[in-house]
Amino acid sequence: MNKITVCDKEYNINSNISNALEALIEIKKTSNKSLAFKYGCKSGVCGSCSVLINGVEQLACACKINDADNISPLKNLDLIKGLVVDDSNIKEKLLQVDANLNDLSSNIISQKSVDVIDVQSNCILCNSCYSSCPVYEVNKDFIGPFALTRAFRYIKDDKEASSKSKLDAMQTNGVWDCTLCGNCSAVCPQAIDIKNDIVMLQNISVQNGYENPAFSSNNSFDSFGDDDFGFNPNSF
Ligand code: SF4
Ligand code: SF4
Ligand code: FES
Repeated sequence: MNKITVCDKEYNINSNISNALEALIEIKKTSNKSLAFKYGCKSGVCGSCSVLINGVEQLACACKINDADNISPLKNLDLIKGLVVDDSNIKEKLLQVDANLNDLSSNIISQKSVDVIDVQSNCILCNSCYSSCPVYEVNKDFIGPFALTRAFRYIKDDKEASSKSKLDAMQTNGVWDCTLCGNCSAVCPQAIDIKNDIVMLQNISVQNGYENPAFSSNNSFDSFGDDDFGFNPNSF
């Protein structure tokens, strides 16, 4: 028998169960019929079974379970029940940042241009990136990782004729608020380098005439007087 903790309660599970989702299903069958959790495909495709295992975001169906492991709900999202969290705020962000095709171009689409957005197209909406994000933790208005990476995917899509509405939407509570900590990229089960996409979005924003508001409000250059002898990044 192995002993694991789920939502702060200890359960014994048969040691021949090695998968975290199977352990949850077994607990529901044998020990706690009211234990709430989500799953669908059981094969890492639907994104519905994302939880914290020992404090790290994982797909339960794709994760091994060991003695003394601890399963808890994703962070930064309101708890509905058990391991089920409310992600409605995150789904709204896809609309907010216009993460879809809205102005079809007549471009011929090459395999090369499809390859550019191939990885980002694999997002399974598991919410792990939001759970790991320190900015979303303190600011629920932050557009956040997967909405930004999806917007990037459509901005780079040759079928999209105009990216203006997407770029406009991500200038506030968006690309410039990210700390580039990389937590989102580290936990993504689809190996999407979300942090890198956000860096690219910052570059694309600058190329399209937008500015980092933190930088544009730095008046170090304006403060130069006759005695100044160079750029002072700390505004002394
Ligand atoms: S890199 Fe940016 S979006 Fe990703 S977890 Fe860090 S702050 Fe959040
Ligand atoms: S970007 Fe990765 S971590 Fe974020 S929701 Fe999509 S698959 Fe999950
Ligand atoms: S059940 Fe679908 S990803 Fe785990």
